[in-house]
Order: sequence, then structure tokens, then C-alpha cells
Amino acid sequence: MRLGNIILFVALCSFTAYYIYEPIPEEIEERWKLMLTNSFFRGLSHLADFSELVGLTDYMGVMYVITLAEKVVPLSDEHVKVTEEKFDGVEVVVYQPKQRGGDTELRRAVIYLHGGGWCLGSSRMSPYDLLARKMVTDLNAVVLSVEYRLAPAHHFPVPYEDVYCVVKHFLQKGVLAQYSVDPGRIAVSGDSAGGNLAAAVSQQLQKDPGQQVQFKAQALLYPVLQALDLNTPSYQQNQDMPILPRTLMVRFWSEYFTSDKALFRAMMANTHNNPESSSLLKFVNWSAFLPETYHRKYNYSAPAVVQGVAGQAVGIDGPSQSFADPRASPLLVPDTALRSLPKAYILTCEYDVLRDDGIMYVTRLRAAGVEVTHEHYDTGFHGALMFTVWPTDFLIGRRMTDNYVEWLKENL
Ligand SMILES: *[C@@H]1O[C@H](CO)[C@@H](O)[C@H](O)[C@H]1NC(C)=O
Ligand SMILES: *[C@@H]1O[C@H](CO)[C@@H](O)[C@H](O)[C@H]1NC(C)=O
Repeated sequence: MRLGNIILFVALCSFTAYYIYEPIPEEIEERWKLMLTNSFFRGLSHLADFSELVGLTDYMGVMYVITLAEKVVPLSDEHVKVTEEKFDGVEVVVYQPKQRGGDTELRRAVIYLHGGGWCLGSSRMSPYDLLARKMVTDLNAVVLSVEYRLAPAHHFPVPYEDVYCVVKHFLQKGVLAQYSVDPGRIAVSGDSAGGNLAAAVSQQLQKDPGQQVQFKAQALLYPVLQALDLNTPSYQQNQDMPILPRTLMVRFWSEYFTSDKALFRAMMANTHNNPESSSLLKFVNWSAFLPETYHRKYNYSAPAVVQGVAGQAVGIDGPSQSFADPRASPLLVPDTALRSLPKAYILTCEYDVLRDDGIMYVTRLRAAGVEVTHEHYDTGFHGALMFTVWPTDFLIGRRMTDNYVEWLKENL
């Protein structure tokens, strides 16, 4: 080898090592695998930024590759009958246990909402397909995996409304009978942005005056629950953590409402609140709702409030103001609106910007008298439930899935 080649080789190796290496906390299991996995996500994110900068495609257009890479065609198998249907115009993948002869017993049901920041993801991704099959076989349940429409093509409230349409359609007595579902044993569940939608539709359903069938349980897996304070201790502690750095979460939030970059910039600076939304800051006051261990190292200061005219000057008006709508930020409701919610399972991860959203909801639901199981993973990172398929399979993802399904088995 000539010296030039050697130098080039060494340079490439060190660049690769530099690119892959990240200061991930020691206690996280399978650290190197996580660094490698995350270097793919980071690389894609850089490509997406570049593509948007030069005007090729928007950022989410490139990030959508993640969804495409794991797409499957959900097919029936030995134990599970899979059909693709439309409920009130919204696509749903329906997973049902294959009938055993003479089995007329009513079954449980889970309405599942996938994650992906309202912009990415699909019920037809292999980790979600596997999870649905596991729930069918372990719980003898009917699982609806909802293919709600995504931002930025469909901003808030479209994804939320798609989900609510499916919920309302399915919970009709006639429809439940058609799928042999017990009206008293239905749960709504979802991970990340799906957990946000699950929490939001649970609140909406119990307010709906004509609604007869209600959920028995809601299971929220590292949910997103509020857009008012994007500087909670967990946002600060985990701002560079895989798989969801703060910048990406803020992008998801802003793109949920608008493609106007002014909201993204204001949210990055945590200066997006206006006088109206600031009256709701009391519902996400982490100095009050987080156990002391989580906020000890941080001094609470309420997010800055930008007055009307200045707010408009940076474009935080019109649809952008929806970030304070409880259908987008379910934490922003008074205790009275939480009291009659179904019992809850809330999963949180230590190394996750969304940790405190979940923990604050645990505190607030319990204070309102709702039965809550809180499962906190000390070495968990955001998105771990998605990593159950080789080569990006993580032991912690497997454990989370098992514990979550076990909870449903005992509580649904
Ligand atoms: C947050 O809670 C603390 C006490 O826990 C209180 O001193 C502070 O005024 C509260 N701030 C807001 C904005 O609710
Ligand atoms: C919080 O405030 C105390 C007392 O003012 C100060 O000593 C400490 O450095 C502050 N901590 C942070 C993280 O800003």
C-alpha cells in the first residue's frame, strides 16, 4: 500500500469511528449496537437537512425512508387472520385470532396507534406487525392497527380525528358484535406519538355525551403529552440521546401544526408560549409534578411568554397556536377532566426527552384518583419497543414488550 492510501484509510476509519461514537451513558445495555443504530438515524437526519436546504425534498420526506425500510404486507398466518379495512374512511389493519371450532367466547380488543412523531411510521411496519400478532396470540384479542394520515401533508387535527373516527366506529355495539368483542374489555394504546393520540382520544371519549361503550384501559408507551414546556429536566438531560434528540422532537411537534419554520425556531428556544397558552403552564409545572429526584438538579423557571404582537411577528398565530389544544397536549386539562379516565399503564424511560411528560401524567392521574401502573426503565431509551427485529434487536425492547403485554393480560 502506498503511504497516500494508508493515510486515506486511517482518515476514513477515524471519521467513521468519530461519526459512530457518541457519549452514551455506561449503564445503557448494548451501547455499541445503539451507537451503530443511531449513526444510521443521524446520517439520515443530516441527509434530510441537506436535502431540505438545497430544496430537493422536505426533511420529513427523507426521514420517511425509515418507515419504508421496515414496511411489510401484513398477511394471515396459522394463528392470526389479517384483513385491511376502512372504518369510516380511515385505513385499519385488523388482526383477529383464528376461530377455533365452536368457540363463541367474546374477545378483548386493543386499538393500537403507532409512533413516529405524527409524521413517520405506519401500522404496516414489521415491529408493529409483530407486536399486533403477539397481542392476538397472548391475549386472544382483536387488534386494530390504525393507519391514520400523517403530517406534514395532514396537519393537526387530521391524525387525531382519523383515530377518533376509528374509535367511534368500532365502539358501536353492532360492530363489536361483528368481531366478537366484549364491550367491557377494550383498550387503547400506542407508543410515542401514538401514546399521545391514545391519551387524547381517551379524554375525548369520556366527554362524549352519547357514548355508551367506554375503554377499560389505556396503555401509553413513552408518550408525548405536552408542547408547552420543551425544556423539562428530561429534555435538558437527554437532548442528544438516541433515537430521539430534542431537535427531532421539536421538529415533530412543530410539523404537527405547521410547515412554517417560525414555530420550530420558537419551540427550539422554548419561547413559543403566548398569553393564552401561558395560563395552562400550571398543568405542566415540573417543579410541582415530578418527584424530587428528577428535578433536584434543575431550577424551575417557567417558559418565556411572548406577548401578542411579538408572537404574531414570529408567526406563532393561527393554526400554530393549536399546541395548547388538549387534543394535542393531553396534559393541559384540569383534574376534573382526568377523574373518570380508564385505568392506565404508563411506560417511561430514563434516557428519553419525553420521560417527564409521562411522569407528570402519572402524578396528575393519580392525584385525580385514576389507577395507574407506572413502569420506569432506568436504562431505557426512547423507541426501544421498535427494536425487536434483527439486526437492530435490543434485549430491553424485548423486555418492555413482554411486560407491557403482561399488564394487558392482567388488566384488560
Ligand atoms: C410551579 O410550582 C412551584 C412550586 O412547586 C411554584 O412555586 C411555581 O409558582 C409554579 N409555577 C407555575 C408557572 O405554575
Ligand atoms: C440552581 O440554583 C442554585 C441556587 O441559586 C445554584 O447554586 C445552582 O447552580 C442552580 N443550578 C442550575 C442547574 O442552574
